[in-house]
Amino acid sequence: MNITVLNGPNLNLLGKREPEIYGLTTLVDIERQMRDLIKDANATLDFMQSNKEYELVDAIQALLGKESQFIILNPAAFTHTSVALRDALQATKIPFIEVHLSNIYAREDFRKKSYFSDIAMGTISGLGANGYLLALNHLLNHTK
Ligand code: DQA
Repeated sequence: MNITVLNGPNLNLLGKREPEIYGLTTLVDIERQMRDLIKDANATLDFMQSNKEYELVDAIQALLGKESQFIILNPAAFTHTSVALRDALQATKIPFIEVHLSNIYAREDFRKKSYFSDIAMGTISGLGANGYLLALNHLLNHTK
């Protein structure tokens, strides 16, 4: 199984960015914790962050046709805007889990609309950095 973790805009600033909302854990910490978790599993992990929508679209398209491929996706602000990313996921049919550090349903109204939730395997929102680990744990233990 290969799991690709995709992170959208401004998540490179985790740890410094509005820590009262997003916590103090950095993206490097999250990647390290995920790599620890898969250490003994029969799985590989690719991890990327981009502030550019087209780079995320290209990363999804590059996975087209791969066997046993899953995505853990925090689209960040693109959650609420990106038909292009949604289309890429639908075009490639790669199963994915949507993750948000904050609870997007307990914030501004514009964050309540996600272009991904209805086509995701599931969505984890509001559990901080642990959401990434829960998503990974699910893929490792509950999917084939
Ligand atoms: C986020 C929530 C989004 O609304 C926001 O634009 C982000 C991060 C989260 O992880 O809580 O950048 O996806």
